[in-house]
Parts: sequence; structure tokens; C-alpha cells
Amino acid sequence: MNDRYAVIGNPVAHSKSPWIHAEFARATGQRIDYGRIEAPLGAFARTVAAFRAAGGRGCNVTLPFKAEAFALATEPTPRARAARAANTLRFDGEGAGAAVAADNTDGAGLVNDLERNLRRPIAGRRVLLMGAGGAAQGVLGPLLEARPAALVLANRTAGKAQALAARFPGSRGGGYDAIAGESFDIVVNATSAGLTGGAVPLPGGLFAPGALAYDMVYGRDTPFLAAACAAGAATSDGLGMLVEQAAESFFFWCGARPETGAVLAALRADG
Ligand code: ATR
Repeated sequence: MNDRYAVIGNPVAHSKSPWIHAEFARATGQRIDYGRIEAPLGAFARTVAAFRAAGGRGCNVTLPFKAEAFALATEPTPRARAARAANTLRFDGEGAGAAVAADNTDGAGLVNDLERNLRRPIAGRRVLLMGAGGAAQGVLGPLLEARPAALVLANRTAGKAQALAARFPGSRGGGYDAIAGESFDIVVNATSAGLTGGAVPLPGGLFAPGALAYDMVYGRDTPFLAAACAAGAATSDGLGMLVEQAAESFFFWCGARPETGAVLAALRADG
């Protein structure tokens, strides 16, 4: 029987993860089945336990359960620990001694998409991360490890950006007014504003010449990307991050590193 995996979230119906992991499995010769499970709000741990009891070997975890997934971990990776959130669980062993290994592959997914797919090295560059919620928290550590010249957090609620930056030495945080007059080579939107059609306030002169604007949301033209394009920046949505974080999760489970280029190209072609 194939090993069973799934993505657990709420909502989860439109997740592309089952297709991506089926492609990875085919390309690497791994025998896995990968499904979608919608967990009721307030029943994440119960849903994970039921999946595990039914033979599940691991899962991806998406909104709004990443903090709860981390709380279930008995063996979190350092990057999951730093993020205090997990998007990948692996069930090791059986019975009372069973372990729950947890990873957070979102940050590595973002860094790999920027550096490998989009050919935007982070080292020595000035990076702005907008937002201070779960999405920002998940990527801050790996962004810092890529050694930017500066990593600045800006958020509507300045205190949240300051508090998050304080957890990650080497970054600094504040409100959007605090970045007036500064410019950046890479600007990442980790707010949920694009999902609701809201716009983040972009101070003039934010984009350095040749800058890249990156939205972690995918599959829609967000007001942020439209504004960045009008300001002369190159733009990217977060589809590559989705594929790259999936590849890191696949490696966490199977120990095999899938090629991502063909999968990303196929998703892009699919529109
Ligand atoms: P996620 O897990 O997607 O990060 P979250 O934890 O609810 O979700 O965080 C949402 C982020 O988007 C926050 O940084 C939020 O700003 P506040 O902390 O000030 O609430 C930001 N956000 C949401 N809507 C926004 C908008 N219209 N303009 C600017 N920032 C917005």
C-alpha cells in the first residue's frame, strides 16, 4: 500500500498541493497517496489523530492551523521552532513512543523561489517584509539566513512588527511611516490585504531601481502588485513559493528532492 499524506486546512478545497505532490511522487518514483482534509475549526488535533490512526504518515498544514500544528510537535526543526508555526508534520513510530516531527518549509520556499527561480539573490540586498502575522513570522528566519544587507518589517499595527522583529535579531520593525524615505531591492507582501482586495500603503520611492515586488498570495492580481508595477518594479506572485515549500515538505517526508521547474511551469500554463 502507498504511504498516505494529506493537506489539512480550512478551507482546503482549492488546494493545489495534492496535484503538486502527485507530480513529485511520479518524478521521484516514491509511492504516496496525497489527499485533502478539511478540519473543523477547533478540531485540528482530533482531525490529525484520526488521519494518523487511519495510516497517515504525515501532512501539510495550512491556514488557520499552523500554530496548532506546531503545538502538536514533539520534534520541531529549528526553523519551525523559530517561526512557532509548522506547515509540515511527519508521524514517526507507533503507539506511546510515537513522535510528531514538525517543520516549517514556507521560508525556505520563499527564499528558493526568489533566488533560484526568479534569480534574485538576497545576500547584500535590502529587503522589506510587509505584514507581521503568521505569514511573515514563517519566513523571517530563512530570509535572515540568506544574509540581506537589511531586513525591515513594516506593518499597519506598528507594535506587532516591532515585537516580531525583536524575536529575530538582525531585523527591525515598525509602521509604514517608519520606512518613508527608504528604498528596497526586494519587497515582499506577507499581509492578507490582497485576499480581501485591500491595498497596503506604499510610500513613494519604496522600490530601488530594478526592484522586485513579491506577493505571497498567488492566482490573482493584488492591488500591491498593480501598484508596484505602476511604480516600475518587476513583480511576482507566490506560486513559485507554493511549489518550493511543497518540495521541501516532500524531502522532509521522503528524503528525495524533486525538481520543481516543470511542476511550476505546468501550474503557470494552467493559469
Ligand atoms: P497571516 O497568517 O496571513 O499573516 P494574520 O496573522 O491575520 O494572517 O495577519 C494578517 C496581516 O495582514 C497582518 O500583518 C495585518 O496587519 P495588522 O497586524 O495591522 O492587522 C495585515 N493586513 C491585513 N489587512 C490589511 C490591510 N488592508 N492593510 C494593511 N495590512 C493588512
